[in-house]
Amino acid sequence: SAGIAGIREQTLVAVKPDGVQRQLVGEIIQRFEKRGFQLVGLKLVQPSRDVLSEHYHDLQKKPFYSALIQYMSSGPIVVMVWEGCDVVSVSRMMVGDTNPAAARPGTVRGDLCVHISRNAIHASDSVAVAKKEISLWFHGSELVEWESCTRKNNY
Ligand code: PPS
Repeated sequence: SAGIAGIREQTLVAVKPDGVQRQLVGEIIQRFEKRGFQLVGLKLVQPSRDVLSEHYHDLQKKPFYSALIQYMSSGPIVVMVWEGCDVVSVSRMMVGDTNPAAARPGTVRGDLCVHISRNAIHASDSVAVAKKEISLWFHGSELVEWESCTRKNNY
């Protein structure tokens, strides 16, 4: 619903194998938490080629496609669903340019990586794509509905 700051959305963010291996998971989660987004799903997975080929379906004809699938299946990734106002576009802004060499300082890629073939993080590029990607990587039962949670842990 529309609140004081726009529409609540959900997006899929993934820390890619290089990001996990370089121990950037905590840093990346912290940036999204501090920005004010809410974590609704999180898991460490060794992605199968089937899921990756579905995820990167639109890139099949690109010259870098096989290298991309190879890279993405080279180790575990951390997939997350983040929720909040305008989270899709704000996440893309936080992630920075696809090519880390062009990414602004202050963005994840602009601060933490240098090469397009090892760009550390993925974020959905539209609300429609986010919906598809979330349902590809998560079962509904793996996502939290914060609205229906009672908060008893404020000790
Ligand atoms: S394109 O050509 O406009 O569709 O590409 P783009 O949208 O910028 O990027 C789509 C995803 O492909 C990844 N990519 C690459 N991976 C490896 N090597 C090269 N050269 C390369 N170029 C683009 C890019 O990181 C995007 O992946 P995600 O996971 O969506 O960030």
